[in-house]
Amino acid sequence: MTLITLSDPRSPVSEAYRTLRTNLSFSSLDEPIRTLVITSPTPDEGKSTTIANLAVTMAQGGRKTVLVDCDLRRPSLHAFFNCQPEPGLTNLLLEKDSEPALQETEVEDLFLLSSGPLPPNPADLLGSKRMDQIIRKLKDVADIVLFDAPPVIAVTDATILGAKVDGVLLVISAGRTKREHAQRAKDMLEKAKVRIVGAALTNAPKDSSIGGYYD
Ligand SMILES: Nc1ncnc2c1ncn2[C@@H]1O[C@H](COP(=O)(O)OP(=O)(O)OP(=O)(O)O)[C@@H](O)[C@H]1O
Ligand SMILES: [Mg+2]
Repeated sequence: MTLITLSDPRSPVSEAYRTLRTNLSFSSLDEPIRTLVITSPTPDEGKSTTIANLAVTMAQGGRKTVLVDCDLRRPSLHAFFNCQPEPGLTNLLLEKDSEPALQETEVEDLFLLSSGPLPPNPADLLGSKRMDQIIRKLKDVADIVLFDAPPVIAVTDATILGAKVDGVLLVISAGRTKREHAQRAKDMLEKAKVRIVGAALTNAPKDSSIGGYYD
């Protein structure tokens, strides 16, 4: 899988990821967001692609960034960075005192913590006290920690994890995500007191009337 922010950093799409980075940094002026979970209502709406490209632009902006694959059901981040799927988060969750197996990527200042072996009980692991410790530990070594998560409606993982971090970014796919599902995802997160910092629209039709000059 290719990352457009690496293969074509000057494209309008890469520019859109940088705009997303900027908007996130302005979304909370008092306390900068240091831990962010990405999710979406249902599968295949572009969560992993969005968080991987966002991580690249954040690291390129000079912030030490750790990307964590918390989709313990369909992990995919390792494939974007040609990294290994394990060891990773689940090793860290199950083996006390172990150190995070951060893998280097081709991007300076960007490190990946893969999912590790898939567990039978992802939600229990993500909701554990040990997970709180791991988040604290990752914050000690990075400026920003980004977490990929499963879709929010079918399983509870993203909601549980979202309650442990500074904010959640909700991905909505144009022409694909149903309004009703977007609304339900928002309600579910808000009910759990999760802070939704914004939404990212994927699969949007290209509008050539804006920014063509800068192509
Ligand atoms: N911004 C975008 N615009 C159009 N298509 C996109 C965009 N981002 C991702 N896609 C495409 O959508 C599909 C799903 O992407 P991705 O794997 O990132 O989604 P996901 O929400 O993480 O899926 P899953 O629920 O399986 O984890 C891929 O084919 C990807 O290329
Ligand atoms: Mg995914």
